[in-house]
Amino acid sequence: MTELLEDPALINSVAAKTVELRRLLAQVAVDFTPAAFANSLGAEDMVLTDLIVREDIGIEIFSLDTGRLPAETYDLMGRLKRHYGLNLKLYYPRHRLVENYTREHGINGFYDAVELRKACCHARKVEPLQRALAGKKAWITGLRAEQAATRAGLAVREFDAGNGLEKFNPLAGWTKNEVWAYIHANAVPYNKLHDQGYPSIGCAPCTRAVAAGEHVRAGRWWWEEPTSKECGLHVKRA
Ligand code: ADX
Ligand code: SF4
Repeated sequence: MTELLEDPALINSVAAKTVELRRLLAQVAVDFTPAAFANSLGAEDMVLTDLIVREDIGIEIFSLDTGRLPAETYDLMGRLKRHYGLNLKLYYPRHRLVENYTREHGINGFYDAVELRKACCHARKVEPLQRALAGKKAWITGLRAEQAATRAGLAVREFDAGNGLEKFNPLAGWTKNEVWAYIHANAVPYNKLHDQGYPSIGCAPCTRAVAAGEHVRAGRWWWEEPTSKECGLHVKRA
């Protein structure tokens, strides 16, 4: 991937987009205090983390620890602490919701039906996200339009009616290569699973490596249809 740094057109586009990204994040911090960045520790989110921390932009950084994340993701949290001195603010699922779920559906009930998968994501991600966003004026994500059919046409700024606040997707128009060129050019720490065939990383039991040429999200909830593969964090409500 470091050969990306030998492509002058790519370097130029990353440089221009980085200027724009820095400007947008600084503006959000001023206009929407308090704002928070939802950090899944995926490659895109490492770009945002790097800029927010190094430029000391006043945006809180939090992660939703579902309790089922891969060991490599927890390892990256430790590396972020050592590299940037960053203590991620972690949100956890309500223990009663998880207890009820596992008693009723089993520890891995999410493999049995899309509804059970969505219910697990709700208990472990969506409900904690609602608490993380309470009192915030805007939130920031690392979503990109080209990641999925469900994300095509993604706007940089939208109103999140479900959560009742502004939502910014500053990397909406970035390509995968631009993300990785930024990471390598700035020696940004990243999840080791990315080097083992995992372009997109979520919970351990719901993520697997993809084969060369497969879609970047083919390893997420691989047993489901592409149109249902959203965990509920980014569902649009009218
Ligand atoms: S997901 O909906 O399929 O899980 P994905 O992994 O592509 O989402 O991540 C998209 C964006 O959602 C991330 O850039 C991040 O902003 C947010 N996000 C996803 N998972 C988490 C998490 N565990 N903690 C915080 N933010 C998350
Ligand atoms: Fe549960 Fe899998 Fe969703 Fe994680 S990704 S919250 S383990 S269903």
